[in-house]
Amino acid sequence: MTQIKHIAFIMDGNGRWASKRGLPRSAGHIAGAKTVAKVISACNALGIKAVSLYAFSTENWKRPEDEIKNIFKMITDFNRRALKECVKHGYVLRYMGELSALPDDARAAIEDACARTADNAGMIINVAVNYGGKQEIVRAACTARRDEEGKVSAADFEDALYSTGLPPVDLLVRTGGEYRLSNFMLYQSAYAELFFEKTLWPDMTAKKVEKIVGEFALRNRRFGGI
Ligand code: FPP
Repeated sequence: MTQIKHIAFIMDGNGRWASKRGLPRSAGHIAGAKTVAKVISACNALGIKAVSLYAFSTENWKRPEDEIKNIFKMITDFNRRALKECVKHGYVLRYMGELSALPDDARAAIEDACARTADNAGMIINVAVNYGGKQEIVRAACTARRDEEGKVSAADFEDALYSTGLPPVDLLVRTGGEYRLSNFMLYQSAYAELFFEKTLWPDMTAKKVEKIVGEFALRNRRFGGI
């Protein structure tokens, strides 16, 4: 069993996976959604308490309309399947991001799934949709509880983040061979160990997750100490 409480994934490489096979980008997102299920069960088997997944960023609106539609279809399908899995395994399903921009039916299905799994005691699946780390921090700065002097404590600030109640990210994995955070969980990853994996997201497997988790165990986390 791992020490990891919270693992986060930037699921990059769906488009390239599809192009390499002469397929439309949508085929990459379909394959990517299948990978999500495998990775979630691998994380559960490892005893991880929370998994965060970057499904759609505030910057992804720049993509062609067709691709955006397709990603939202994947998210809605994922939500339907995830709800069944959450009921079966006792997982909690959560979302973070500005969900008000989503089509009404998608948002209603998401809210229903979250409500129906909120009291489960198992692993937390936290899906970032229309999410941006900087936007989240600014939002928390505006909404966090202030004391009589107008000051905000770290605990109250953290409560105002979408991730309220989740442990900090221990391990942040980006697939697809690029070395950046792309505005993902900036506050929560302050002391995360970073792993950049060449594998394109649809090619991720339980074995590869286990290998990364094994390497994490060898890292010396000092949190600013010596
Ligand atoms: C990045 O690959 C991937 C996305 C922007 C979409 C991720 C969505 C899914 C895997 C489907 C639904 C999943 C959940 C958890 C609801 P890219 O398209 O940027 O790939 P590229 O860099 O090769 O072009």
